[in-house]
Amino acid sequence: MPLATIAELLVRAEQLQHISDTPRLDVEILLCRVLDCQRSYLFTWPEHRVDGDQAARFESLLARRLAGEPVAYITGEQPFWTLVLKVSPATLIPRPETELLVETALARLPESGVRCLDLGTGTGAIALALGFERPRWSLVAVDSEPAAVGLARGNARRLGIANVDIRGSDWFAQVEGVFDVIISNPPYVAEGDVHLRQGDLRFEPVSALVAEDGGLGDLEHIIGVGREYLSAGGLLMLEHGADQGDALQRRFHARGYTGVETLKDLAGLDRVTLGYRPG
Ligand SMILES: C[S@@+](CC[C@H](N)C(=O)[O-])C[C@H]1O[C@@H](n2cnc3c(N)ncnc32)[C@H](O)[C@@H]1O
Repeated sequence: MPLATIAELLVRAEQLQHISDTPRLDVEILLCRVLDCQRSYLFTWPEHRVDGDQAARFESLLARRLAGEPVAYITGEQPFWTLVLKVSPATLIPRPETELLVETALARLPESGVRCLDLGTGTGAIALALGFERPRWSLVAVDSEPAAVGLARGNARRLGIANVDIRGSDWFAQVEGVFDVIISNPPYVAEGDVHLRQGDLRFEPVSALVAEDGGLGDLEHIIGVGREYLSAGGLLMLEHGADQGDALQRRFHARGYTGVETLKDLAGLDRVTLGYRPG
C-alpha cells in the first residue's frame, strides 16, 4: 500500500468530529508530535509522504483521541499564557479561561514587591505565568496532590522560573505569612454533575474537579480562611463555574470583603469573583 501524504492524514480529522470541537487542530497537533515538526511544516509540505513507523505512531495516537483522551494528555503538554507546560493525569489540564486570573492580577497589582499565593496550583499554570511576567514578585504555590507538586516543580525548573516556592499543602495548612494577592482555581464541580461524564473531564482527576456542598465547599473555605492570610487591602481572586457568581458574591460580602466584583470570560460567562480585605 502506498504511504500516505500529510494532506491525506489531515483528512482523518473528519473522524474526530463527533468527539472534538477542534478536530482539525487535534489531528495537526498529533501529526506534528509524530513528525517532530511545527504546524507550519504541515501546510508547507502537504505532499510529503510519512514513513511506515510514523504512520503507525499516528494511528495509535489518533486511536487514543478517538477514545476521548484529551490531546494534552496524549502529547504530555499544553500551552498556557506564553508558556508550554508539561501536564499529566495527576491534575487538571490548564484552560484558556484561567488566563483571566493572570490577566487581572497583572493589571491590578504593582510590577514589583508583590507577595502572591496560588492555591491548588496543579501544573503551576497561574503561579508560573505570573512568576514569568513578574520576576520581582515572590510567589508561593501549593497543591495537596504530591504528583501535582512534582509536576509544577518540574515545569518551574524547565522554564527557569525561580521566584515560585512550590509546596505540598492542604489549602493553607503549610502556608505562613500574609499575601498581597491570593489566587485560586479550586475544584468547583458538584459531585454527580453530568459534565463529569463528558469530554475531557472523564479523564481528569476527581481531586481537581469535585468539591463538596454542590461544588462550593472549597471556594467557601478559601474565602473564609483566606482573609486571615491577606495583607490589609489584599486581593482575593477565585475562578468558579458560570452559575456560581451570585453565590460567590454573597459569600465574599458575608466575610466582609470590599470592592466585590464578578468578571466574565471571553465567552461572556461569569468566571472570576474577587474582593479586597478592608485595609
Ligand atoms: C481545578 S484544578 C486547578 C489547577 C491549576 N491551578 C489550573 O488552573 O490549571 C484544582 C487543583 O486544586 C488541587 N486541590 C484540591 N484540593 C486541594 C486542597 N485541599 N489543598 C490544595 N490543593 C487542592 C487539585 O489537586 C488541583 O490540582
